[in-house]
Amino acid sequence: MAKITKLDDIVSLCKRRGFIFQSSEIYGGLASCYDYGPLGVELKNNVKKAWWKNVVQMRDDVVGLDCSILMHPLVWKASGHADKFADLVAECKKCNTRTRVDHLTSRNEEHTEHIALDAAMAKTTDLSNKVCPNCGAAGQFTEPMPFRLMFETQMGANIDDSMTMFLRPETAQGIFANFRNVLDSTRVKIPFGIAQIGKSFRNEVTTKAFIFRTREFEQAELEFFCEPGTDEQWFEHWKEQRFNWYTDLGIKKENLRFREHDREELAHYAKSCVDVEYRFPFGSGDWQELEGIANRTDFDLRQHQRGMRTVTKWFENNRDLSKIELAEEAEDYQSGPLSYFDDEKKTRYIPYVIEPSAGIDRSTLAFLVDAYDEEEVRGETRNLLRFHPALAPIKVGIFPLVKKEGMPEVAINIYNDLKKYFNCFYDEKGAVGRRYRRQDEAGTPFCITVDGQTLQDQTVTVRERDSMDQIRVSTGQLLNHLREKLEV
Ligand code: GAP
Repeated sequence: MAKITKLDDIVSLCKRRGFIFQSSEIYGGLASCYDYGPLGVELKNNVKKAWWKNVVQMRDDVVGLDCSILMHPLVWKASGHADKFADLVAECKKCNTRTRVDHLTSRNEEHTEHIALDAAMAKTTDLSNKVCPNCGAAGQFTEPMPFRLMFETQMGANIDDSMTMFLRPETAQGIFANFRNVLDSTRVKIPFGIAQIGKSFRNEVTTKAFIFRTREFEQAELEFFCEPGTDEQWFEHWKEQRFNWYTDLGIKKENLRFREHDREELAHYAKSCVDVEYRFPFGSGDWQELEGIANRTDFDLRQHQRGMRTVTKWFENNRDLSKIELAEEAEDYQSGPLSYFDDEKKTRYIPYVIEPSAGIDRSTLAFLVDAYDEEEVRGETRNLLRFHPALAPIKVGIFPLVKKEGMPEVAINIYNDLKKYFNCFYDEKGAVGRRYRRQDEAGTPFCITVDGQTLQDQTVTVRERDSMDQIRVSTGQLLNHLREKLEV
């Protein structure tokens, strides 16, 4: 029977085999920041490739984009992040540690993002009997206060023209800000989507569980623009697509579910939102958000039309965001610069947006957890990662049985041929059983061994990771055989 995975097993495997390291470890580590090692970067790149292929390349109605992380400060005023992207925190008077109020009062793990903090404050001010999770002191919290989640930085070398900038907390706004550019430079017609993968930054109050919640992370977001009135149908479409993406890549159905946001929890721009949750091996109840799918309505494009009308005011106020209000919405906003003209219906409108927003690091963790297994084989424990072939960091391990009799030369030739097509690994060190185990632990789906028989009849052993079954394949057929198994 498959073992129930613990997060500690994953963390230890990741460090031991070079998937994921603590950032700046030689300096004692930097909390909540992680580095992907040689196997980790291959795995994470494969997760991104699989998302891009499925969401962009296999569809005729989605195009890609890669925006800069730094954007005009008004973007964040218009999106609402500059004023509202904050968590409500309370500080323990005894140990000075800040804790998110919603963590003290409910099991909600995610942000009160864009929820009016006043409303959240009014509902949750009584912390008199709450216990500090850091030092255990009871009833020692200060009054709750908002804590801004966006990282700030300065841009510009001259004092006169330097300005405060934000590291983007989501990639989505770069897509909205380029909506017009994409419309004008391509032949897209509504319904269509713009997709992007990239880094986002949030100064999280509490980080947790390895790469699950960090301050620097990668998102894969799609903004799918559609005609108002068709939004609910597209919402259902994307729910199904996104759920299937995870299961097609090997996540077990029983570890995945949808959770609808109730009205109170909805971000102010959202008409509806559903989370794809994964049963992670930590936390209360274990079910945690993997991806959010939101119906953002026409909120963002309308807000950016207001933002565009605020630029002059912003210059007049010395580029100080805190001194300006967003311009009022024009009465004819439906025909504004970010509207869409439907040639066939001869109508103009601001499109609605369905947004599936996935975390690349979080899904990488889910793929690791779901693939991890331990089993007893002839009295020994075999650790393995049962990755889908598309995600496996190394696709094929190639070994000579022994380091003599011309076997290494044949194996190296095979390795040189195959590495043009797949990420391969050549290994001639130690007993062949140990080499198989090392590849099992890296999640390598196939291992090829060159042995005495190879020299006689030009066949090699192909061993499959999960079943450990071995078959003989002629070297001439090897590429086709592997392609059939790996390119699924
Ligand atoms: N544009 C919508 C948006 O950003 P979100 O629910 O805040 O929505 C989407 O984030 C996804 O990004 C989450 O489901 C999660 O996978 C990932 N994510 C968000 N914050 C994260 C963090 N601090 N660390 C790692 N991943 C995070």
